Amino acid sequence: MSFTIVEQAAARLNRSELAVPGSSPQMFAKAAASNADIVFLDLEDAVAPDQKAEARKNVIRGLNEIDWGRKTVSVRINGLDTPYMYRDVIDVIEEGGDRLDLLMIPKVGTAADVYALDMLVTQVEDAMGRTKRLGFELIIETALGMANVEAIAGASKRNESLHFGVADYAASTRARTTMIGGPNPDYGVLTGGADDPHRDYHWGDMWHYAIARMVVAARAHGLRPIDGPFGDFSDPEGFKSQANRAAVLGCEGKWAIHPKQIDLANTVMGPSATDLDKARRILDAMAEATRQGKGAVSLDGRLIDIASIKQAEGMVKKAEQIAAAA
Ligand code: GLV
Ligand code: MG
Repeated sequence: MSFTIVEQAAARLNRSELAVPGSSPQMFAKAAASNADIVFLDLEDAVAPDQKAEARKNVIRGLNEIDWGRKTVSVRINGLDTPYMYRDVIDVIEEGGDRLDLLMIPKVGTAADVYALDMLVTQVEDAMGRTKRLGFELIIETALGMANVEAIAGASKRNESLHFGVADYAASTRARTTMIGGPNPDYGVLTGGADDPHRDYHWGDMWHYAIARMVVAARAHGLRPIDGPFGDFSDPEGFKSQANRAAVLGCEGKWAIHPKQIDLANTVMGPSATDLDKARRILDAMAEATRQGKGAVSLDGRLIDIASIKQAEGMVKKAEQIAAAA
């Protein structure tokens, strides 16, 4: 282990993150009663420019009046390049009461963006005597943001998670996409050479590099990596497969842009009963080996290393968090 200890962000369940437009206050109560781990009320791209001020008012009212239970509540503010952002921050913190947990910052491009927001949020919180410090969720969704992702991840003690905003990322990198967060059949190669009569078309995942890069930056700074939207909410199998591949790479959660996607995300991102059973057996085997004074631990004829023990501990802890939240 390095002498540098990676401090972990606040431990929060973040299997599913439900997006709710700030301009649709009729959806707030349903979102609060849903199974989503986190709800973010959106002031940014789901809200048309002429509705920004009204949406901000709706969100402030919703924060004060809706019973959010034990859910984590976030507000996505507008970008730093817009004339809305400063008022989003000031009004939402000053008038939104104590219930808000996180601010989601879109299109973060540099560490200085996060620093500037931290400064503004700190001033408003201090001026109000707000003792509950807001955490930051940062969306990595531009080429600039991805190029600076490591510095961004380490830019503030408020940082809790990095989110892959695939829709804007595609626009920013000018990637050729077919739909939000989905695969593109053109991203593949022919196997073999021209003289091979059995050439296959081998598909790849065009988002692999971006997600993997973001996961490493997030984990190196103790943050949660979260996969962003999947646009076709009538395609549960497609959603599950994209969520699964993000989970395999280390993501802890995925956005739900429709309530239908919440349970799918919770299932894919939570440990399965089989995984949990195996994790518990690994920990039991380790405890037994320690009792017997054995150095090496094995289970089902396979050696268990420290890394698998850590993974098992993480899984059991997550299951406990899920049970506590139920
Ligand atoms: C999310 O904001 C995205 O652009 O995908
Ligand atoms: Mg976006």
